[in-house]
Amino acid sequence: MKTLKVHLDKKAVLSHEIRIGRSIRDRMILLIAKNHPAPLYAVVTDSNVNRLYGRTLADAMIQAGLNTSVLEIPAGESAKNMATVLSLATRLLEQGADRQTLLIALGGGVVGDLTGFLAAIFMRQVGYIQLPTTLVGQVDSAVGGKTAVDLPQGKNLLGAFHQPRAVFADLQFLDTLPEREFVNGLAEIIKYGIIEDEKLFGLLENNMDAVLRRDPALLLKIVETCCRIKKSIVEIDEREQGLRRILNFGHTLGHALEAESGYRLSHGEGVALGMIAAANLSSALGYLAADEAGRIGRLVAQAGLPTRIDADLRPEAVLGRLKADKKKKDGALHFVLVKKIGMPFVNGGIGDDKIGSVLEGMRA
Ligand code: GLY
Repeated sequence: MKTLKVHLDKKAVLSHEIRIGRSIRDRMILLIAKNHPAPLYAVVTDSNVNRLYGRTLADAMIQAGLNTSVLEIPAGESAKNMATVLSLATRLLEQGADRQTLLIALGGGVVGDLTGFLAAIFMRQVGYIQLPTTLVGQVDSAVGGKTAVDLPQGKNLLGAFHQPRAVFADLQFLDTLPEREFVNGLAEIIKYGIIEDEKLFGLLENNMDAVLRRDPALLLKIVETCCRIKKSIVEIDEREQGLRRILNFGHTLGHALEAESGYRLSHGEGVALGMIAAANLSSALGYLAADEAGRIGRLVAQAGLPTRIDADLRPEAVLGRLKADKKKKDGALHFVLVKKIGMPFVNGGIGDDKIGSVLEGMRA
């Protein structure tokens, strides 16, 4: 099992560990018992993950002497809302939860974000542990303490920064991950290569077949590398005042495309298209060599992610969504561009005409 330490302040009061390995459940339970004692552990999970892993995890924790309950929520983004938070809070109170209760988020991004948010506000804050079961969760959303639920007006509009007490990424969970979900995670992994690590980008270029076969040793190396990159960024800029924005590479346009498609495009697919658009924009504005932008497009295609925007997604409509986003964010849209692979920067003012023509050029 690999261990990374996340240091969020100089006195290390807010430090925690990310542990990554394969089939680490029993060691994880021992570590939780030793390092995170609590009178009640509430495992929050969705109906799909519960069926596969929730009950067995809770049984193993109970066998180890830990007072554990399971709180199931419906699977899917539509459960990521305040109604689910209120229902979970009510169930916690019925079980006698108090401020010492520790929540355990067992699932993907929805479960992780929602459980973290509940932990941030339940009895003015309780601790939680992230146990991500998806590739996106393991390389991105479970690390860094962003928590949120959606509002009818948009995703993640209610949230808080609340760091987990620990993150355990067990690669065994990836064995049962549906193909589309796995490929979603590859978009975030490619992103880390582009924004921070050309070696990782090259590793993906040369080994995509093995990655898609879910080669265990390769996945361990990749998940560890991505967690290392993310934690280094979060250590410097936990609250996204500057540097952390680079983690949004491909996401600004990606979110707009995802929403404009009525969520027919998955998050990873939107981000993949957004990354190609950001690379093409970087190239059109003279920052990035055209062949480097081409490498990004080819790697996205190798991963089985889309490289063309469906003809029914009109650039004007996508630009309209970007403008609405801009209003929400104080008039400034922070576009992450790249000078070369591994060298991102944030650009505040790109004209609609440039974005529109890049989108037009990517239409199928
Ligand atoms: N997923 C982007 C971030 O955590 O900042």
